[in-house]
Amino acid sequence: MKYGYFDQSTREYVIDRIDVPVSWTNYIGVKDMCGVFNHTAGGYLFYKSPEFHRITRFRPNGVPMDRPGHYVYVRDDDTGDYWTLSWQPVGKSLDKAKYVCRHGLSYIKYQCEYSGIWGQQTLFIPLDDPVEIWDVLLRNDSGKRRRLSVFSYSEFSFHHIQIDNQNFQMSLYAAGSSYKDGIIEHDLFYEATGYQYFTSDITNDDASYFDCLRDVFIGQYRTETNPIAVESGACSGSFELGGNHCGVIRRVVELEPGAETRLIFLLGEGDRDAGKKIRSKYCTSGFPEVDTAFKNLSNFWKDKIEKLQINTPHEGMNTMINTWTLYQAEINVIFSRFASFIEVGGRTGLGYRDTSQDAMMVPHSNPEKSRSRIVELLKGLTSDGYGIHLFSPEWFEKRTAPAFKSPTVVPLPPKSNRVHGIKDACADDALWLIPSIVEYIRETGDFSFAEEKYSYADTFDPEGNEGLIETVFDHMKRILDFSAREIGPHGICKGLRADWNDCLNLGGGESAMVSFLHHWALVHFCALGKRLGKDVSKYEEMTVKVRESCEHELWNGSWYTRGFTSSGRGIGTPASKEGKVHMESNTWAVLSGAASHEHGITAMDAVDKYLYTKYGLKLCDPAFSEPDDEVGFVTRVYKGLKENAAIFSHPNPWAWAAETMLGRGDRAMKFYDSLCPYNQNDQIEVRKAEPYMYCQFVAGPDHTAFGRAHHPFMTGSAGWSYFAATRFMLGIRPDFDSLVVDPCVPEGWPSFTVRRVWRNAVYNITVENPNKVSKGVKECKVNGQSVKCGKAGAEIPVQSKGSENQVTVVMG
Ligand code: NOJ
Repeated sequence: MKYGYFDQSTREYVIDRIDVPVSWTNYIGVKDMCGVFNHTAGGYLFYKSPEFHRITRFRPNGVPMDRPGHYVYVRDDDTGDYWTLSWQPVGKSLDKAKYVCRHGLSYIKYQCEYSGIWGQQTLFIPLDDPVEIWDVLLRNDSGKRRRLSVFSYSEFSFHHIQIDNQNFQMSLYAAGSSYKDGIIEHDLFYEATGYQYFTSDITNDDASYFDCLRDVFIGQYRTETNPIAVESGACSGSFELGGNHCGVIRRVVELEPGAETRLIFLLGEGDRDAGKKIRSKYCTSGFPEVDTAFKNLSNFWKDKIEKLQINTPHEGMNTMINTWTLYQAEINVIFSRFASFIEVGGRTGLGYRDTSQDAMMVPHSNPEKSRSRIVELLKGLTSDGYGIHLFSPEWFEKRTAPAFKSPTVVPLPPKSNRVHGIKDACADDALWLIPSIVEYIRETGDFSFAEEKYSYADTFDPEGNEGLIETVFDHMKRILDFSAREIGPHGICKGLRADWNDCLNLGGGESAMVSFLHHWALVHFCALGKRLGKDVSKYEEMTVKVRESCEHELWNGSWYTRGFTSSGRGIGTPASKEGKVHMESNTWAVLSGAASHEHGITAMDAVDKYLYTKYGLKLCDPAFSEPDDEVGFVTRVYKGLKENAAIFSHPNPWAWAAETMLGRGDRAMKFYDSLCPYNQNDQIEVRKAEPYMYCQFVAGPDHTAFGRAHHPFMTGSAGWSYFAATRFMLGIRPDFDSLVVDPCVPEGWPSFTVRRVWRNAVYNITVENPNKVSKGVKECKVNGQSVKCGKAGAEIPVQSKGSENQVTVVMG
């Protein structure tokens, strides 16, 4: 069953059957202001922090789902009938109304045809102004003159997510609203500068044209479905110091047959004066500034997308890689994980491991953000070499005390809460940062970054001394030394609090995944060190030692063991009762380069045999059914959900990459296809979630809802899918001094092309596969000249800035 389609020309996902089974979301904003909205305009807006600076309210886990939102009501003033431009909250019968939602890159269009009126509400945030623009179009297709009232609606929040949900004896009396000069101002009186404004291009001071009080607009014993003001056709001019506040402006529109009109509403960060400035900027005749802002946003995404475009025989891969997977990966790196309908704002900051991985995925399309995230993570590293698992970057910046302390000022926790000890460290966290740094340098050629100096979390005092300052290269060494030091009785890295898998209790035990990751990080580090002319012999020896321990201790004859519990019991071995085969150890054995080819083949065959399903690879098999606290919380999660043998999306691309390292392009594509959301566009009765996004997990075959996808958008699977598909399957990989082309594709692919922008030059790459192979490059020419080809693919030297280069590659 289908609910929509991918519009290739506009790069939109178009939901043309609006009653999708769960919320299908999108993000607007690319900088400080961010909105998360679903297909019916339910959702919320925040400025910088979803926890401390929530602009509009959201009632998570509510019924009806995902309300309130940013709504536009239309009322026929002759009949009293009313509807919204998004299907909800009025929810007109779909027999009588046609609704479409177009999810675009950082914008959403809600379209509606009802009672002879075509309407559209576009939500977006300009690149450089903290304001959400509601661009509303109405057209009279009814053949007769129509008199309409149009009402905006959004419900303000008390900024702090906790204050918004508890202790109303304070918040209800310290926030107020007022209306003047056509601007609704929401005032958080307990903040020094806590204001929002709501306005429109034309305003009217008459009381029937605005409401600032939610409960007056909605009315008693009513909901957003049937607000009294809309039903009766007029607002009340309400405002008050204290209470719950909203942004409602009513516009009156008269439309001759065929006539069209455009209305602008603005919801912004700042006080009435800020609102006036923004209004005078955007609300000039014909709204050229709104159009320019929208165009600038499109160009912002066009520029990113053009950095890498593919044309392969696989339409789904083209669609995902060229638009949606890059978009998802970018949204993850821009906003981190804590703003969605799942993470509703109670946590804030950066997860060390997630952010380290996210930063690795988009250095070509967002080098600035990749770099700034890496710097935040370097500062969040302790001098012991482990990362602070969850932190706010502001903790490790110089801070001046706020002039006025209010409950919504982002607090600086005491040092003991900022910097946890080793016991609470996750053993994998900081290891991810090393490849991210190296990939950033490979992409940008910014070698001097390795010599930049940064502080450490444990020695930095935000209100005093900077503490120990060392180079990026030294930070990397400390990470590697930490993992070399923190090993258990088998010589395998300790799991500490956990490794990548939050639910495996490796406390006191050892983690195969961390040792493999250590190996991977070492390989990256040594390559960089050598390129920089440094002595890395200590780390080369370390690499050999790690590899030997892994092969010796973790190869169990059938696949790679997942780890050891604190009592030395193996996890993920043929002798294990449950959870015998795990994705993490087997994919990472290969991906890290630690496994021998022969063992790699056997291990990945086990992955295929035990973990493959038609909706992707399961995390482990068989699922755990009996609680076993030595193994961990995973044994207390229902079978087939989350880490307990669900199809956990994030590790799936590890398997695609691992298969390409073994030269098995068809197998890699089989795995890619099974998870690919695009392929499930017509199976929404099973998938439920949006088909344009990877989700955190898909219920596994042990669960009754096998195939149902959960937790879209904010998941590491976005970046990893992009990374594995482009760098391993298509094989386009920047190195320090060359662009490597080393594809591993299905044997049946006759050819494909990639347009890649790298270090300010364009590479138009055509790959031919006349001999129907999966891997291997026989010949490569750049602008007609042959270049080096070897086992590791073709090496294209850096071409001059601004040049456009034709690259032909023949596989064989
Ligand atoms: C989600 C967490 O954000 C991520 O850090 C973790 O690796 C996965 N769950 C797997 O447990």
